[in-house]
Amino acid sequence: MPAMTTTASTPTEADDGKDKTLPGTIGFLGTGNMAEALIKGMLTAGLVKPEQIWGSDPRQSRCQQLKQQYGINMTTHNIDVVRRASIIMLSVKPQVLLGVMDEVAAYLKPKSLCVSVAAGVPLQVLESHLPKGTRVVRVMPNTPALVGAGATAIAAGSTATEDDLKLTQQIFGAVGFTVVLEEDQLDAVTGLSGSGPAYMFLVIEALSDAGVKVGLSRYNALALAAHTVLGSAKLLLETGQHPGHLKDMVTSPGGTAIAGLHTLEAGGLRTTLINAVEAATRRSRELGELAIANAEKRRLASQDK
Ligand SMILES: NC(=O)c1ccc[n+]([C@@H]2O[C@H](COP(=O)([O-])OP(=O)(O)OC[C@H]3O[C@@H](n4cnc5c(N)ncnc54)[C@H](OP(=O)(O)O)[C@@H]3O)[C@@H](O)[C@H]2O)c1
Repeated sequence: MPAMTTTASTPTEADDGKDKTLPGTIGFLGTGNMAEALIKGMLTAGLVKPEQIWGSDPRQSRCQQLKQQYGINMTTHNIDVVRRASIIMLSVKPQVLLGVMDEVAAYLKPKSLCVSVAAGVPLQVLESHLPKGTRVVRVMPNTPALVGAGATAIAAGSTATEDDLKLTQQIFGAVGFTVVLEEDQLDAVTGLSGSGPAYMFLVIEALSDAGVKVGLSRYNALALAAHTVLGSAKLLLETGQHPGHLKDMVTSPGGTAIAGLHTLEAGGLRTTLINAVEAATRRSRELGELAIANAEKRRLASQDK
């Protein structure tokens, strides 16, 4: 298996002397956790200068905080952002997203690109709330983006271009790994990498409980468990070796690892994980269908007014 490469940028890459600054202004509608992760990542990677970023948030205190911390422009008015930005990141919660889009749609700059990070809101719904022909890209990031180690899938809307996809990859590459897929695969992404951090935290917590059971302190057990998961993923990505091969490397005849592995197989760990990803994928699909039905209801209600 070839070594897996990622598009992750690091602070060192930002210092390599090349100017990789993106042109234009990037606007964030909603500047919570995900937006802050992206802002921090893009600034660290040297993709944008603080003055190129505009963000909106309803809370003045949050605006003040981000302005002070990153030197970016902040406002409590969404329209101020879309009037200026050529790339608009839709980074509010899914339940408020359509309201925000209806609020700003008429003020979008011609040719601006909209990038939605909202979980479960399909491109069809996003496009129906924007002026005809607006280029839209939908992404599904995950929470490790908050520490620059995210995994993000990117899907193009009906009029988005190759350049839009490249630009989106550059932006999300600043906070981790990116991959471009068709939208119909985003439910599977949500089931795997989108929901995956929750599975991994459960695994780490369970391993740390196990460590305590066999006599380690809670602190040591948790740290050892987390570093084992982190290090194993790093070893796999950096060597490009198949996980089965790396497992075999730890497993000596009659040894400890094979005794543990036998117990995991007997407990159905593989099947349980496959079932978990399948269930989460199914749920993501259901939520997407609900979002389409709700958008249609909203459209019909607004026609009746
Ligand atoms: N966090 C993740 O790792 C993750 C992963 C995948 C996808 N996402 C997606 O990313 C989006 C943002 O998630 P998040 O975790 O960053 O949520 P968050 O921390 O709650 O951020 C949302 C921000 O939007 C603000 N807001 C609320 N109403 C607004 C409005 N009308 N106009 C402008 N801003 C408004 C909120 O302000 P208040 O706090 O004052 O309400 C908050 O600061 C969601 O759609 C989510 O599905 C997040």
